[in-house]
Amino acid sequence: MASRSIFQLQVFLIFALATTAFSSVLSPYYYEKVCPKALPTIKRIVEAAVYKERRMGGSLLRLHFHDCFVQGCDASLLLDATSTIDSEKNARPNLNSTRGFEVIDQIKKEVDKICGRPVVSCADILAVAARDSVVALGGPSWKVQLGRRDSTTASRNLANDNLPSPIMDLPALIKNFKNQGLNEKDLVALSGGHTLGLSQCGLFKERIYNGTNIDSDFAKERRKTCPRTGGDTKFSPLDPTFARFDTAYFSNLIKKKGLLESDQALFSGGSTDELVKTYSYNPKAFSADFANSMIKMGNINVLTGKRGQIRSNCRKVESLEWLLSFLYFCVQLIYFICKCKKFESVKLFGNNVLLSKMLILFQNLEF
Ligand code: HEM
Ligand SMILES: *[C@@H]1O[C@H](CO)[C@@H](O)[C@H](O)[C@H]1NC(C)=O
Ligand SMILES: *[C@@H]1O[C@H](CO)[C@@H](O)[C@H](O)[C@H]1NC(C)=O
Repeated sequence: MASRSIFQLQVFLIFALATTAFSSVLSPYYYEKVCPKALPTIKRIVEAAVYKERRMGGSLLRLHFHDCFVQGCDASLLLDATSTIDSEKNARPNLNSTRGFEVIDQIKKEVDKICGRPVVSCADILAVAARDSVVALGGPSWKVQLGRRDSTTASRNLANDNLPSPIMDLPALIKNFKNQGLNEKDLVALSGGHTLGLSQCGLFKERIYNGTNIDSDFAKERRKTCPRTGGDTKFSPLDPTFARFDTAYFSNLIKKKGLLESDQALFSGGSTDELVKTYSYNPKAFSADFANSMIKMGNINVLTGKRGQIRSNCRKVESLEWLLSFLYFCVQLIYFICKCKKFESVKLFGNNVLLSKMLILFQNLEF
């Protein structure tokens, strides 16, 4: 009897190790077994948010980008400032600019509820919400790789250093993307994200008043809602069809009607001109390359396996994680040794908030 128990304990430990090892690769099917309703829930909330305000689709897409370029796609962007967190939300490119955090909060709440416990990471929510936003506004779809985990840190300084500025020229943009392992094609395709959303006057004022590589009628038009002095927070669309995912962004670049300096830089006599031309008349090529580059961007420095954590509130680091996982481990072990039953923790604790929280945290445990 005793030896049988020990044998089963070994099986249990091997099983536990195996599940941890398995989880260290991203996969589109990551949540299929553990919470099949997770992805449809995200999609439903994104669609509702975009229906309520079309701009939100662009805002959510941008959140994933600003997350991935700082420490990798780890939801570091979502952490609020505390005595130990120097929030990325306060970095120059994000302050009074990135938005949509409330939508992410709502998704997180409803997904955790429907899954019965916090299994879906905030980093994965950002990646899926970005895809669903693009689809909701008429863009391409792709299979989002999943299984990212959330950071326990954030870096305002890194956000200031890594996020590209709207006055960068082509060499600076290429270098900025190269630092993230992204090439010129990724730069052009992903900049096509500016087919959605708005920009504030203060960020393109210099271009529309003093720029040389700009269509004069376009500059005149933009000056109407962006005065030479003041009005820095007034909005203009990044392309004429800012609530539709299309190729207007690229055809505008060819007409010297890019809004930001960094937009026009992609078509200014440099190495990316040809690709801009191609995308301007070939929506299929743009869609395919955009989807590919989004997947590539979504892979930047992801935390998997035992690294990172699953937050239950995207704005806060999960602090009791180690205690909870230790307690959960003890409970499971005792249960296993006493009953010698199949390891059916999900069913057993599915409705108990504390125990079910421990279950997910248990998966973080190091052996
Ligand atoms: C290539 C370098 C990039 C630069 C310099 C840049 C810069 C900017 C700036 C300055 C704004 C306006 C912010 C404001 O007015 O508050 C903006 C908005 C936006 N960016 Fe980018 N961006 C870049 C790449 C990207 C990428 C790769 C994506 C996504 C794939 C993206 C998606 C967006 C979207 C959707 C908006 C509009 C957001 C909204 O309306 O809330 N951008 N970007
Ligand atoms: C932030 O942006 C809003 C418009 O979205 C504007 O009304 C507000 O004055 C801005 N605040 C600062 C400090 O720039
Ligand atoms: C444009 O250039 C003039 C002359 O150099 C300068 O005074 C002005 O501040 C610049 N910017 C804008 C937005 O007019």
